[in-house]
Amino acid sequence: MSRKPIFAANWKMNKGASETEDFVKSFLSKTQGMNFTSEIVIAPPFVSLPKLADLLHTATAGQNAHAIQIAAQNCSEYDSGAYTGEVSVMMLREFFVHYVILGHSERRSIYGETDAKINAKIKKAREANLKPIFCIGETLAEREGGKLESVLRTQVTQGLKDISEKDLNEIVIAYEPVWAIGTGVTATSEQAQEAHAFVRSLIAEIYGPDAAAKIRIQYGGSVKPGNAAELMAQPDIDGALIGGAALEPQSFLDIIRNGS
Ligand code: G3P
Repeated sequence: MSRKPIFAANWKMNKGASETEDFVKSFLSKTQGMNFTSEIVIAPPFVSLPKLADLLHTATAGQNAHAIQIAAQNCSEYDSGAYTGEVSVMMLREFFVHYVILGHSERRSIYGETDAKINAKIKKAREANLKPIFCIGETLAEREGGKLESVLRTQVTQGLKDISEKDLNEIVIAYEPVWAIGTGVTATSEQAQEAHAFVRSLIAEIYGPDAAAKIRIQYGGSVKPGNAAELMAQPDIDGALIGGAALEPQSFLDIIRNGS
């Protein structure tokens, strides 16, 4: 089963509308005339979504704007109403958002998002035909305490509770060991492959071998141009969710090219 690799830039709380314009113009200029075999996604802050959508939809035909998909970094599990500060899935659809990052470790640790809340957000995203990038991963203490598999099992089974196989086919899982996020300490390709293979075995256990063979599992955590090729060469790694190194057009492009 061949799976199309997917490389997503998670800009986190970086790049307002004007910096988004600078990035996109530079990225489109660098990629003009290139053909990509991988999927490319950019997840800006909410306030930059209109600008990103406009730039990609008004780019000239010769540029690669069509190769870039838009992601949000979060969404509400509610449709509308008295939820101050929240953004609904239908608001996101208005800006041609196709993916939504859910369950990122920063949402879990800083904003207290539970597996149940993440599950509710995954369901709401699917109601709007958005494709979740469903983040999971263990802390260093959990890994060193021998809890890697139990932590991933809990996150996967509770995050995907009552999710149909049909919806699963539209979900990308992002394995992001928390101890590798923003630290410059990347998981070795062996560590990453071991975790990815275990996650894929969990999907096989829950949904069967066909679904497990289909689902794409990104690696995230200090992915750089220099380590992308070795990581992406692993059989169960299907792309990357990139933070710091995706804030610059050239390094994001280098990761995509080295990893494809
Ligand atoms: O969501 C991707 C992010 O958590 C990884 O960040 O800076 O380690 O690539 P970084």
